[in-house]
Amino acid sequence: MPAPDRPRRRFAVVGTGSRAEMFVRAMATTHADVAVPVALVDPSPTRRAYYDELLAGHGLRAEHLGPEDLPALLDSGRVDAVVVASPDDTHADHVCAALDRGLDVVCEKPLAHDVEGLRRIGAAAERSAGELVVTFNYRYSPRNSAVRRLLADGAVGTVTGVHFEWLLDTVHGADYFRRWHREKDRSGGLLVHKATHHVDLVNWWLGDVPERVTALGGLRFYGDERAAERGLAGRPALSRDAGPGDPFALDLAADDRLRRLYLDAEGDDGYRRDQDVFAPGVTIEDTMSVLVGYRGGAALTYALSAYNPWEGYRVAVTGTEGRLELDVVERSHVPAGRTGALLGPGGKSGPAVDPSVARDEDADDPVRPFGARLVVQRQWERPRVVEIAEGAGAHGGGDALLLDDVLRGAGPDPLGRQAHYVDGVRSVAVGLCANRSMATGGTVRTADLGLPLDLPAGAR
Ligand SMILES: NC(=O)c1ccc[n+]([C@@H]2O[C@H](COP(=O)([O-])OP(=O)(O)OC[C@H]3O[C@@H](n4cnc5c(N)ncnc54)[C@H](O)[C@@H]3O)[C@@H](O)[C@H]2O)c1
Repeated sequence: MPAPDRPRRRFAVVGTGSRAEMFVRAMATTHADVAVPVALVDPSPTRRAYYDELLAGHGLRAEHLGPEDLPALLDSGRVDAVVVASPDDTHADHVCAALDRGLDVVCEKPLAHDVEGLRRIGAAAERSAGELVVTFNYRYSPRNSAVRRLLADGAVGTVTGVHFEWLLDTVHGADYFRRWHREKDRSGGLLVHKATHHVDLVNWWLGDVPERVTALGGLRFYGDERAAERGLAGRPALSRDAGPGDPFALDLAADDRLRRLYLDAEGDDGYRRDQDVFAPGVTIEDTMSVLVGYRGGAALTYALSAYNPWEGYRVAVTGTEGRLELDVVERSHVPAGRTGALLGPGGKSGPAVDPSVARDEDADDPVRPFGARLVVQRQWERPRVVEIAEGAGAHGGGDALLLDDVLRGAGPDPLGRQAHYVDGVRSVAVGLCANRSMATGGTVRTADLGLPLDLPAGAR
């Protein structure tokens, strides 16, 4: 419900690529009573222009600016808040610029991609009157909320261990190796960029703070060296030239949205959305195993890999009084011939890259059926299935619920879903420690990063 005394906030949308669409669309439609997009900030005029049509359809117009003009815009009094949906390595500058002017910030995950950025954000957040919210939309997915509720209600007693495996398939997983995510200096690698979601879930489920981290990982599938080992050397340098039948090609021209956002915009800044996943220059891992010790004594064993034949995740929580298991299948297999995986449900054109955003019905399978199964078993009892009321839309309805919280302000929040910025720091801290551990072979303590890991007094 809208907060009755909350004025309609004027937003600058910083970074007008793919993710911005969720926010711009909401501000133009479902949340138009509380938010209005007044400025589009992006180095690419073509990507900014993509949003003009969307806004015009709702009688709206926003001014266009490059990132270099953002400070002047923030000084002008023309905006009240910013959405930061630009690449991860640009978050800290934009978040701090807005907070230092006392403006509210909605920042996409990860909060930042390195220690220095997190430190700057922490200092800016502490001295600012503005509110900083991190968009941990996975918390809002009904199945993940159900785990939080069960654990908070003591369904398995005191949690002693969490085993969490996240599988990205050769459609969604490959996509992190096509553009800026493939460079560790820009994304922090998947243990920061992607695992921030997963570690945040565990931190939130347990209500605990990660203390020490040990990790192993490497590039075992993507990249030029692995391609050479598998006899794939000599492929065309760009996936658009790879030819029909190449399951790793991404045909930007075949999808209207991707064409307009990326192919048509290449002349602006040279951003290549469809680099070959086997081309040189990949500096991130695709295979990772992490062990995390929590202050309260629980241990997390976490694995993430990016080239599986199916996509989903498995969580097992062991406690002193029982066990909880969540198994989620988002895409049971990648159908043969799905070149570029750009065919959406029903074979229609449309990006079906991330199966949590659009169900890929052609890829369902009775052996591994699409959906989630949550089972709780207490000591000396039979297992019981816990019903999950999935919502409509991306991330099991999570994105829609998140938008309410970040644009309208959190209402009653018994599960504590709205994330404090310190939650953003805690989850990235694990990824940064894991990166250090992979480099050194040792265990790294989160406290050694010098970051704010404790919620300020009075925060929920
Ligand atoms: N919560 C989620 O589930 C989720 C999903 C997707 C993306 N994201 C996050 O959203 C962000 C954007 O991801 P995306 O997939 O839209 O990427 P994208 O590459 O499609 O869009 C990023 C946009 O930022 C622009 N940009 C580049 N440098 C900039 C700068 N200095 N200032 C402002 N804009 C700049 C680019 O031109 C591009 O238009 C990332 O941080 C990503 O982690 C979150």
